[in-house]
Amino acid sequence: MDVARLIDEAIIARTNSYAPYSKFKVGCAIALKNGKVIRGTNIENKSYGLTICAERVALFKMVSEGLTKYDVEAILIIGDTKEPITPCGACREVMNELLLPETKVILANMERDTLEIKVSDLLPLSFKMEN
Ligand code: THU
Repeated sequence: MDVARLIDEAIIARTNSYAPYSKFKVGCAIALKNGKVIRGTNIENKSYGLTICAERVALFKMVSEGLTKYDVEAILIIGDTKEPITPCGACREVMNELLLPETKVILANMERDTLEIKVSDLLPLSFKMEN
């Protein structure tokens, strides 16, 4: 799937953001190898710590639909930031857990600037099962 289409998918996801506290809307789109897309957006809570980021919503939807890291072509995250958005530590851990190290991670902003990295770039020296 091309990056332009994946950006469009994440922008659609972002329109559903529930962010009354931070007002910071984030969208995520996971491109699957079968051509389908799983969308996610951030969902906040008045008990702030219960907030869940767009990436985790999309990844948990993926798992709950019976899909795994082997089904994923790329994941794209978008926010209204000057530089392409950069994911929080919790989401980095979850991406590290649920995606393959070589899977493409595309960070984007609303100007459609992008930065392409890999899952393995997100969490250097991370705790591994083998540890
Ligand atoms: N947020 C995400 O959804 N993804 C990120 O990568 C960064 C932060 C959300 C969480 C919260 O709803 C808002 O952005 C402000 O932190």
